[in-house]
Amino acid sequence: MDKIFKLTQPVVETLAEKYGTPLLVLSLEQIKHNYQFLTDHLPGVKLYYAVKANPDERIVRTLASLGSCFDVASDGEMLALTELGIAPDRMVYANPFKTHNGLAVAKRTGVYKFTFDSESEIYKMAKAVPGGSVLLRVRVDNPKALVDLNKKFGAHPDDALRLLNIAREQGLDVAGLCFHVGSQSLTADAYVDAMKICRRLFDEAAVQGFNLHILDIGGGFPIPALGSEIDIIKLTKTISENLAKYFPTTEIWAEPGRFICGTAVNLITRVIGLQQRNNQQWYFLDDGLYGTFSGVIFDHWDFELIAFKSGEKIPATFAGPSCDSLDVMFRDKLTVPLEMDDILLVPNCGSYTSASATVFNGFAKTPRVVWEDIEQEINQVTAKNKSIA
Ligand SMILES: Cc1ncc(COP(=O)(O)O)c(C=O)c1O
Repeated sequence: MDKIFKLTQPVVETLAEKYGTPLLVLSLEQIKHNYQFLTDHLPGVKLYYAVKANPDERIVRTLASLGSCFDVASDGEMLALTELGIAPDRMVYANPFKTHNGLAVAKRTGVYKFTFDSESEIYKMAKAVPGGSVLLRVRVDNPKALVDLNKKFGAHPDDALRLLNIAREQGLDVAGLCFHVGSQSLTADAYVDAMKICRRLFDEAAVQGFNLHILDIGGGFPIPALGSEIDIIKLTKTISENLAKYFPTTEIWAEPGRFICGTAVNLITRVIGLQQRNNQQWYFLDDGLYGTFSGVIFDHWDFELIAFKSGEKIPATFAGPSCDSLDVMFRDKLTVPLEMDDILLVPNCGSYTSASATVFNGFAKTPRVVWEDIEQEINQVTAKNKSIA
């Protein structure tokens, strides 16, 4: 990728000194950059930021000011966005199984676009939000995604027409189809396969009198990760070309989460304890599995740890600060030997991290600062420290 938000060692030290650790540093410029990248490379595609990836208010406000729409998963997200003045027609309630409270809040706030993949959901929507606009989520298998959402969601293509017919009979506005190829999809193949399936279903639906006019290609756009190569320009180019081929006149939506926020946050964390267990070095950090590193469990993410030190690497175990034995983030992770109070920088920490963090054991959620709010001051202090040293 052309631009990634990554703090330098002197700046990390200044930030740790001023704010303490752990600390999350969010770059809104990177958020803008990522949004603009997708706008440029997926021309004509309407972007619905998947709020679940990182619901930070400043991120949502920034995207709203750029004209983004939003994919919401719950009553809480709808209410939070409504509170920020985001109009209901800029939201799609894209959770195939909605709670009763979620549907009540959709009705109250005026959110009228929904996705579904089951018959039971049709009756729920027809009752709670009559006449709502619906997209049927189609299952597209993709073992190449880091998080394969199709193990849980998506109607089998063979069942699609039956579900569309029931939705129509129930008075819903059957507007189109959607899919999600799974999060952190490394290639465009699954998108292209899904487009082919959806093209066939659009045509079959037309024969039955449907006017499907929206295709939502979901999220899944990848960010740089340890151990995998991504070529986002090639991926978006292939998607664009195939959209033009298979859906030249259809309104296209996408629901990027990770791609928008993943590269926009750095975590600064510190070694708070050393231990030798079973002949392996253990490092205890002041952020853990119940905090920002929750992505290790919920997102299967392997985080890069930058120690700003050189030396021969050793395999080590990294554990979080809670009293729970589950709170171990990495085992056999290669690292330069660390010492007490060493500071680590964790880049690409913005998606499915703080969003799923807890306050288990009474640890507060890791505070965050917005880089552009403090950049000038921090750079001045950093320069001053450098000149003294
Ligand atoms: C319905 C839906 N849309 C969009 C997303 C965002 O996906 P990603 O972060 O891979 O872009 C998700 C992630 O779980 C999702 O469930």
